[in-house]
Amino acid sequence: MKLSKDHIVLQKQNAALEAVKHVHDGFIVGLGSGSTAAFAIEALGERMKIEGIKIMGIPSSYQAFQVAIDNGIPITTLEEHPVIDVTIDGADQLTPELYLIKGGGAALAREKIVAFASKLNVIIADLGKKVAFLGANDQFIPVEVMPFALSPVKRKLAEMGGMLTVREAKGKLGPIITDNGNALVDVVFGEVKNPAELNVSLKMIPGVAETGLFVGLTDVAYVGSVNSVEKFVVERKQFYF
Ligand code: 5RP
Repeated sequence: MKLSKDHIVLQKQNAALEAVKHVHDGFIVGLGSGSTAAFAIEALGERMKIEGIKIMGIPSSYQAFQVAIDNGIPITTLEEHPVIDVTIDGADQLTPELYLIKGGGAALAREKIVAFASKLNVIIADLGKKVAFLGANDQFIPVEVMPFALSPVKRKLAEMGGMLTVREAKGKLGPIITDNGNALVDVVFGEVKNPAELNVSLKMIPGVAETGLFVGLTDVAYVGSVNSVEKFVVERKQFYF
């Protein structure tokens, strides 16, 4: 059954409303990017107004920064607060192990840095994002690449069996430029059998700044339906610490 746009919005909003319950007075909050994360940022702004809680946000993108400002959330930085209490972010795909593909909004590098700095990572998504394995339905994996390295990185990604597209900008001719001044290559590998291994192999390529594979970073996920929200909890794997 194909859901209407309104139904998907409701799923995202329901997931966001569960996730913001993890935020308490005085928290430093990592602010994710994308439409689902934006609902969480709005809900946090509401909680500040209604409940009077005081929080500060660390945005993972220019978009998250704008939404936070629009909703009255004071901004801070990783320099001032290197440890984040909780980050709430969206995902393009998530598996039962809470492995993720992220970067649909080109914010993957900062999203991963913010997640890495967080004591608790909460992912929110609509039902369509839940999959049995990463790469299902030929979902692409975004790979952020330094412009100088674009050609050799593309050659290597093709050699690894990937189907590549350099992501094009909207409203500007030519490739998209990330918030870090890099290009993005969207790569389809089909079913990703070992996301941790693929992530490391991709990151070993000189010029690859980051990948959209998030492995062992997520603690909790909320997947929204129209009338309910499913909660997933995993023990965070020690890939990074
Ligand atoms: C941005 C992301 C987003 O969180 C992801 O693309 C999901 O977006 P949306 O909530 O709009 O479906 O990773 O880089």
